[in-house]
Amino acid sequence: MDREITEKSQRYFMTSVSMITSNGSKGQNVMAAEWTMQISYEPKLIAVFIHESSSTLKNILETKQFGVNVASEDQTNSVNIAGGYSRKEIAKLDISNAFKLLKAKKLNIPLIRGCIINAECRLVLSKKIGDHVIIVGQVVYIRHDASKKPLVYHRGKYFRIGSPIDSFRQEVKINSDLFDLFSKCANGKFVFKCVGALIKSKNTLLVIRDTEPSLEIIPYFEPTRGHDYYDSLKRHLKKSGLLLTLKPKPFLKRLIFKNDQRIQRVNFILFHGAIKKIPSNFKWKLIKQNSLLRALI
Ligand SMILES: Cc1cc2nc3c(=O)[nH]c(=O)nc-3n(C[C@H](O)[C@H](O)[C@H](O)COP(=O)(O)O)c2cc1C
Repeated sequence: MDREITEKSQRYFMTSVSMITSNGSKGQNVMAAEWTMQISYEPKLIAVFIHESSSTLKNILETKQFGVNVASEDQTNSVNIAGGYSRKEIAKLDISNAFKLLKAKKLNIPLIRGCIINAECRLVLSKKIGDHVIIVGQVVYIRHDASKKPLVYHRGKYFRIGSPIDSFRQEVKINSDLFDLFSKCANGKFVFKCVGALIKSKNTLLVIRDTEPSLEIIPYFEPTRGHDYYDSLKRHLKKSGLLLTLKPKPFLKRLIFKNDQRIQRVNFILFHGAIKKIPSNFKWKLIKQNSLLRALI
């Protein structure tokens, strides 16, 4: 692989930056580490990848304790000092206008004030991987400051986190009966996921009557989590007496239903099908007549 290209590409990852604090025979210390992440909820584990040459690694291997202080957007000065100098050169935490310290609750380590997260960790694993050493810590105490925003690191520069991006959903107006049906199926879920078969003939779609006699919708169902959608749909349709062949490649429709003040997000994973046999409770519906059917094709 071209070395110049790989070196450029590695700068295009985006991370937060943590300040890893530690204590040891050579005194207390802080280093910047963008390669820091939580890797387990229960137990709560955090991994940091640290270069072998760092004083921080020596401290952590010696005391089996470290602090993870996730930097907030107003801490670029502290991060630059933590990442720009080694403890071998200077006692960074003594630089009075660079760091404000916070007392740890459970461990004998310094923590940095003004961060978005401060976690106290006990070392549970260290292992050399490639040119860094992974250290994994079990969190024994953690706190966060909801008023802070994280510092973002990308292409060697610091950024603020931007505004949230609304992921696009097609808005569909449906009548209140249909809305009630979907919100009942969703049962409080933020996104109701369903799988359906789309069988078209000229300008019509094959529909089935759902629970209420007035409602007509394509044959669909809510899949069980972790089960293959294609196989489940085939089984579901067979049970309802609909014999058809399904094309294996699905497509996705992300819809949002709005009715008065109510909102329901629905994802349809749809497979195109062709009919072999239709039972009497299925019928064809003109696509033009129905906003949901129009949105699904
Ligand atoms: C923004 C930033 C992110 C960094 N991320 C890491 C990292 O993830 N792992 C690492 O080993 N070094 C990382 N460094 C470099 C160390 O912070 C640097 O080598 C530091 O001087 C080590 O300090 P120490 O020897 O006192 O432990 C980073 C530096 C900066 C500025």
